[in-house]
Amino acid sequence: MGTDLESLWQKALAHAMAYRTGLPGHSALPQLDYHAMRERLAGPLPENGMAPEAMLEELVALSEPGLMPMAGPRFFGWVIGASDPAGVAADWLVSAWGQNAGYHSPTPAVSAMEEVAEGWLLEVLDLPRGSSIGFTTGATVANGVGLAAARTRVLLDAGWDPDADGLFGAPPVAVLVGADAHSSVFSALQLIGFGYARVERIATDDQGRMRAEALAEEIGKHPGPKIVVAQAGQINTGAYDPFSEIIEIARTAGAWVHVDGAFGLWARATDAHKHLTAGIEGADSWVTDGHKWLQVPYDSGFAIVRDREAHQRAMTQWSSYLPAIAQGDRVPSAYVPELSRRARGTPVWAMLKTLGRKGVADLVERHCGLARQFAALLAEEPGIRIMNEVTINQVIASFGGGDAEARKAATEAVIAKVQQDGICFVGGANWHGDWVMRISVSSGATTETDIERSAVAIINAWRAVRQK
Ligand SMILES: Cc1ncc(COP(=O)(O)O)c(C=O)c1O
Repeated sequence: MGTDLESLWQKALAHAMAYRTGLPGHSALPQLDYHAMRERLAGPLPENGMAPEAMLEELVALSEPGLMPMAGPRFFGWVIGASDPAGVAADWLVSAWGQNAGYHSPTPAVSAMEEVAEGWLLEVLDLPRGSSIGFTTGATVANGVGLAAARTRVLLDAGWDPDADGLFGAPPVAVLVGADAHSSVFSALQLIGFGYARVERIATDDQGRMRAEALAEEIGKHPGPKIVVAQAGQINTGAYDPFSEIIEIARTAGAWVHVDGAFGLWARATDAHKHLTAGIEGADSWVTDGHKWLQVPYDSGFAIVRDREAHQRAMTQWSSYLPAIAQGDRVPSAYVPELSRRARGTPVWAMLKTLGRKGVADLVERHCGLARQFAALLAEEPGIRIMNEVTINQVIASFGGGDAEARKAATEAVIAKVQQDGICFVGGANWHGDWVMRISVSSGATTETDIERSAVAIINAWRAVRQK
């Protein structure tokens, strides 16, 4: 018996609609935690299958108590984005179309769409036109791709082919990274054989910005091939490295400059915040996510490389069974580690088409304004201290007085209470020895009213903790 496509997909749509329209009223935490969900979902491998519609009903009934409202308007954890409905619709079609977008000639529509999206991304981010973009699962992999292209170029220039011959016996490559770089940079370095510990960590200031003079001092100690990793948007403070200075120092020393801008690179789309990235266009590779500020559904990241040849060289595979590549063709898989892949360019094309340049700029500026509103409301309450310069969408706050241990205990208690009260979700992190509450405004659904409600929820939680 064949599947009744319409009935099955209509049911999936109805469930998706019910979930998304109910999100603004959802509690901040799932009703069941991971361990409870594991028990709920556990069971023997089915011997015989079941009707897809019955499977779908079971899937939804089992899952819903364990879904985190990440696409909701008061979710401020990590830096999450919110899977915009337009991007989700395009992503559904990607699944329904079932295109394997590894090669362009068998999948002309989605491959051409990815190529167009590549050009649009370079325009909206105002990065060197003609750079290549690998559409990855996220910024972690994009960091790996950008750094692999860097590895290819700096070692080729030193007379060694790392793609053919690997790293055994290769000239050592110095990697200089800001001390407050995101963990994904280190995991990317680990993945490409550079090691996460074998790096020079360059001192940063109180906002996490790399100190240019510290870079200048360190880079002079490394005569061979080298890579500098800078950052646009520190995960806690949102701070930007001083790119003009860093890039000039790196250029003079002959280094490749890679920039992790998983969310912060989107400041380039705005008039009000673009200045934070001044000089960044002089780098060699850049990373950002679609699934953060562009609101593309997961998974969506971009590895942007000025040196298209090094990028391709670091990623390309070829075999006689694969379609021939004509001169000038853009092969989607030539810029990412995978061959078979979903058509990741399609939801990106869809979001850029839906928002337009102006819509992207408005969204980013609106979030920055909402973050300032959040910080101002919290700062009015005695005992709450805003710990960063709120330049973009990130706010970090500390609660209470006394020593770092006492403030950590108070801050953790406030975070736990906010999560339990269920109005909004915030997380925590260690910032330069202080445990802080992290607030990241990155959902397209968030309004000023959501910020007011959430600030009240946090202040009330703090008052309750203080009274204990
Ligand atoms: C600065 C920075 N780099 C890299 C990442 C990793 O991105 P992804 O989770 O998409 O791999 C993040 C995630 O928040 C980030 O903020």
